[in-house]
Amino acid sequence: MDIDFSQLTEYQRYKLMASLIVPRPIALVTTLGPDGTVNAAPFSMFNMVGEEPPIVMISLNRRDDASLKDTALNIVRTGEFVVHMADEAIAAQMHRCGEHHPPHVSELDVVGFTALPSKVVAPPRIAEAPVAFECTLFETMETASRQVFIGQVRWMHARDEQGLFTLFPGSRRPATAGQSRRVTLRVLKHAQGTQRRVARRGRPSRRVG
Ligand SMILES: Cc1cc2nc3c(=O)[nH]c(=O)nc-3n(C[C@H](O)[C@H](O)[C@H](O)COP(=O)(O)O)c2cc1C
Repeated sequence: MDIDFSQLTEYQRYKLMASLIVPRPIALVTTLGPDGTVNAAPFSMFNMVGEEPPIVMISLNRRDDASLKDTALNIVRTGEFVVHMADEAIAAQMHRCGEHHPPHVSELDVVGFTALPSKVVAPPRIAEAPVAFECTLFETMETASRQVFIGQVRWMHARDEQGLFTLFPGSRRPATAGQSRRVTLRVLKHAQGTQRRVARRGRPSRRVG
């Protein structure tokens, strides 16, 4: 079957791409509103795009009335957002964050998530999420239908190793997941070791001064 994309409607293109480009991870994104409201919403047009610099992307369409979603308005205004990965325990709450609420209503309160201060950005992170990436806006791409935000990861929080890798227990995993998990654990341990060494070296030597 051959399909000429120029002959399709926008909706048909969306349906074909979204149903064939799977699986897609879902980013649960927190941002900060102008009045301090913590906004949270899920986005399935999300992925990592690079490691030098470490960048991720989320793609947001406009609402039916062409207005921008709260997440987009907040990112444009503050240049900061936090991307969380969800596990099965918070999947339903994450999904409910996709319901529309006015800007002064925090989805965290609506679904019962707990906000924790982030390390280097103003939007808080979600305590219940196993992984959080604090991001600053690196670049924005505007298309006819969307804003694609590229975020540079500045900080990562991860639940302890055992908790981290119980993501979606019992779900069907690709054959390489076990191997990938072992590699990730090794890299995580190595990163922690490097961080400790850098922290030790960074301390002023007692002999100086
Ligand atoms: C599982 C899931 C995935 C979604 N993925 C996207 C997406 O990739 N892009 C998008 O613009 N909206 C996506 N949405 C819809 C937004 O989450 C929804 O419009 C939300 O109300 C936006 O919230 P905000 O106005 O607080 O930013 C998704 C919703 C769900 C439930």
